[in-house]
Amino acid sequence: MSSTTPHSAPSTDKLNLRAALIERIGGYMIAHSIGVAAELGLADLIGSGSRHCGELAAETETHEPSLRRLLRLLVAGGIAAEPEPGCFALTDLGSQLRADSPDSLKNFARMFCDPLFFTSWQGLHHTISRGERAFDHTYGTGVYDYLAQHPETSMLFNEAMSEESRHSAEQIASGYDFPEAGTVVDLGGGDGTLLTAILRDRPGLRGIVFDSASGVAEAPATLSKAGLTDRCEALAGDFFQSVPGDGDIYIIKSVFQDWGDEESRAILRTCRAHMPQSATLLIVGTVLPETADTSAPVMFLTDVNMMVTTGGRERTESEFRAMLEETGFTVRSVGDGDAGPLSIIRAVPTSVA
Ligand SMILES: C[S@@+](CC[C@H](N)C(=O)[O-])C[C@H]1O[C@@H](n2cnc3c(N)ncnc32)[C@H](O)[C@@H]1O
Repeated sequence: MSSTTPHSAPSTDKLNLRAALIERIGGYMIAHSIGVAAELGLADLIGSGSRHCGELAAETETHEPSLRRLLRLLVAGGIAAEPEPGCFALTDLGSQLRADSPDSLKNFARMFCDPLFFTSWQGLHHTISRGERAFDHTYGTGVYDYLAQHPETSMLFNEAMSEESRHSAEQIASGYDFPEAGTVVDLGGGDGTLLTAILRDRPGLRGIVFDSASGVAEAPATLSKAGLTDRCEALAGDFFQSVPGDGDIYIIKSVFQDWGDEESRAILRTCRAHMPQSATLLIVGTVLPETADTSAPVMFLTDVNMMVTTGGRERTESEFRAMLEETGFTVRSVGDGDAGPLSIIRAVPTSVA
């Protein structure tokens, strides 16, 4: 006679727990689907109404049955809705993929769902095993050297950064007490989105967007569109070599995350050597909590993304303080969450006297 072990049916909690892990494992499938949707411009075609999958397939020259399945996955992922069979609309989340949305993250999706980054992430195991950047391992060069050699990708990257920065730029411009006169230098300022927001309502203030030649390439168009060319210039340079010496405020947003500690200290030393003793340095970026939690996953996504791609890292307040003190700065304040999820660290050159 064979004996059988009694099995009880798994509890609902257990089933939900399994589904939650399986969903997270499938996160890359959702990311790929969002990237393809952005490439095809599906959100622009759907707009504020709903569109039949057949029309969308015709307009995107895609295979209708496959497109429909992609759209259903986007519904499952909260990006779209299917109000009636075969018809698709955007949710508020998905509407951010429209190019004409003031909240657009379309180019951000196109950039970070591009094979350039996906293939780098396939090298995560390499990064974890060796402590080396998977991007360089895969492409044989660093991210910014790659962008300098690929102008179209660089333009997409600059647009993606601009989209990501749009809201924090407004928060910084309205929340920080900038002077009405003087010069603000934005180091690694990309296409000038942040400086445009700062200068727009302060007619007595001047600005310099400082970035590498490929990084600053889109800035003249941004400044011209905002009517700021008479008091803001776009300047190409290398912040490891020198930075403009005539600023009153030096702002550097989402830059230190790109670099390891040695390079970050080198950038700070260049700033310290060139900026006037009376100037202020504003570092805008993520300040990591001392222990990880689930409240703001994006900062940990960025941290590991930097480890894989640029070799940089996010930092805690004490790490920022140590880096600044070592390079000749005195921290005056740390405004946690002063720019949405980002903080503003205000530092001044330490007095040598
Ligand atoms: C992550 S992006 C941030 C852009 C912008 N500050 C923002 O918050 O949207 C980092 C910027 O640093 C610039 N950068 C990289 N290496 C640089 C260098 N050696 N000198 C000046 N800028 C550099 C990049 O071109 C890029 O625009």
